[in-house]
Amino acid sequence: MTDYKRIVILSGAGISAESGLATFRDEDGMWNHHRVEDVATVEGFAKNPEYVHDFYNELKKELIKANPNPAHLAITRLQQQYPAQTAVITQNVDTLHEKAGNQNVFHIHGQIDQAVCTNCGHILSTWDDVTTEDICPQCSLTGTFKPNIVFFGESLLYMNEVDELLRSCDLFISIGTSGVVFPANTFVRTAKYYHADTIEFNLKPTVNNYEFDRHIIGPAGETFPRFVEELINVNESI
Ligand code: APR
Repeated sequence: MTDYKRIVILSGAGISAESGLATFRDEDGMWNHHRVEDVATVEGFAKNPEYVHDFYNELKKELIKANPNPAHLAITRLQQQYPAQTAVITQNVDTLHEKAGNQNVFHIHGQIDQAVCTNCGHILSTWDDVTTEDICPQCSLTGTFKPNIVFFGESLLYMNEVDELLRSCDLFISIGTSGVVFPANTFVRTAKYYHADTIEFNLKPTVNNYEFDRHIIGPAGETFPRFVEELINVNESI
């Protein structure tokens, strides 16, 4: 099938690798340098909020400098040149999809340029440091902000929208994710249950590669733009 109407793209850290950002589980991945328990759990934040704020404040300084790569830009081309509704569900907290001009992006693990007040739920959008000294402008309490990053054990964001997207898509594309983290690693199964074609873009087959109809192996910055051009050309030739 090639005349797709509703495309869903699930992206992971691998789509940002060619922008110079570390992934989590590759050789030099983030979890080889930091303990998940210390910086990505509710318990770790409760134990040492200053340390966790420092971690994400430093990460913020790195992410703000990164630029989208051809894989991110190819999503914008797909959204503009191909007559389907294309949504992006990203596990990434960087904002490279937005910097590339992608629309309809859902950050299910949160995003680095936001903090959330644990008292009233106010979302603070900022690239500045967030600390335990900050005062919430909505409820006026001090020290209630946490990074708007979904910690392990917390509920993902936008799950109602994700459920609707997975049920209604006819093409599900995974780009640059190892497929080891629940529930994002089950999205392909849901899409397939609702009869979507499924394609995995990665440097190598992943642990749930058997769930995909097709595997396109190689750096996403090369393979995905090529795929988008083929899709657009086939559509234009019809
Ligand atoms: N092109 C395509 N794929 C790539 C590239 C590339 N240039 N570089 C790396 N990859 C692939 C790797 O082969 C790997 O399968 O990207 C994947 C990165 O996997 P992870 O580091 O596990 O990142 P991700 O799948 O996004 O992790 C999911 O885990 O720790 C949590 O919240 C964190 O969102 C993250 C989630």
